[in-house]
Amino acid sequence: MSALERALTIEDLKRIARRRVPRQFFDYIDSGAYTEGTYSSNEADYKKITFRQRVAVNLENRNLGSTLLGQPVNLPLAIAPVGSTGMTDADGEIKAARAAEKFGIPFTLSTMGICSIEDVAEATTKPFWFQLYVMKDRDFIHRLIDRAKAAKCSALVLTMDLQILGQRHKDIRNGLTAPPKFTPKFVAEMMMKPGWAMRMLGTRRRTFRNIAGHVSDAGNLASLTEWTRTQFDLTLNWTDIGWIKKRFGGPVIVKGILDPEDAQLAIDNGADAIVVSNHGGRQLDGAPSSIRVLPEIVDAVGHKTEVLVDGGIRSGQDLLKALALGAKGALIGRIMAYGLGAGGEAGVARALEIVRKETDTTMALMGERDIRNIGAHNVYSNDLLRRQGY
Ligand code: FNR
Repeated sequence: MSALERALTIEDLKRIARRRVPRQFFDYIDSGAYTEGTYSSNEADYKKITFRQRVAVNLENRNLGSTLLGQPVNLPLAIAPVGSTGMTDADGEIKAARAAEKFGIPFTLSTMGICSIEDVAEATTKPFWFQLYVMKDRDFIHRLIDRAKAAKCSALVLTMDLQILGQRHKDIRNGLTAPPKFTPKFVAEMMMKPGWAMRMLGTRRRTFRNIAGHVSDAGNLASLTEWTRTQFDLTLNWTDIGWIKKRFGGPVIVKGILDPEDAQLAIDNGADAIVVSNHGGRQLDGAPSSIRVLPEIVDAVGHKTEVLVDGGIRSGQDLLKALALGAKGALIGRIMAYGLGAGGEAGVARALEIVRKETDTTMALMGERDIRNIGAHNVYSNDLLRRQGY
């Protein structure tokens, strides 16, 4: 039995990934901004929610399928955009997209992916989602949207909470870059992770391929890194949703919402769905966990739009809690990244299978047989009240 087959939980996959992935790239995933307070509360707040158990309910023919933005999914889940996924394992975005496609859920490619829109489109057969960061170079952004459209991406995920970068201390201490600098420390690290190193040497995809070669003033890597750092557009505002949506011509999902008023503004300006998210605890340290603010946002706009959520989901139980508190579906970042680090495409497939099985068993134990019926009646209402106050 392989280590992957022995893995029973996402935590097991995280342990395997820690052994296989060079430290700077593992730490890049397993970290949050500043004190990591928001990063830890994302996970911790799920543990405070308790399920109602009902028994003697017919549990035959259970259904885990649902829809996201009108498209059928085998589980109400999507893979979140995760920058530099191709540094966790060679060609990581392609591997994760393939695993998602086989599993029957959407994959989201980040603007900051190592593999490009075209790389992922070539390697998959079903439409994926593309995540957009709005940068100052509007010609580049126009072309990026056009490329996503040409690749038949079925939704654009517009991330609105990263115009300024929250600081992650570990990344600075580790001297994180993509591709990595060949310092003696990193060479020693490569010798300890030969599988990762061999796979990485075997691919030509080692830098941000959505950007490299597509901006005129960033011919070499040093200037590409500098270009990206200075490009996030500080003037991004709600009216930008309009032209982006018009240019893309398909649904736009606005990601990075933590406030009911912002949720309303996103919808007023054309968002087709929103993702309640604190960027996995990587931006505003001190912001509430996303599960904590989900119910008030659902109360405010849930009848007008699809509300998705991400941050801190590590199991099928967590997914069911998110649905019980009103989400139509959830995005997963680190679950995918730990699976990928633990075993490439097979690792992501294993991670998704673990979540599917946990969801199915837990749903049955709760006395439900259709995931589309999960709602407030499945958790204790005092959990909802307490959540507002802790
Ligand atoms: C992210 N996230 C992110 N979001 C985004 O819109 N564009 C991006 O490029 C990235 N990059 C990124 C890198 C890494 C390593 C992580 C962990 C996260 C945020 C991501 O889409 C999502 O909001 C969180 O990952 C959700 O939290 P969990 O599931 O990781 O707890």
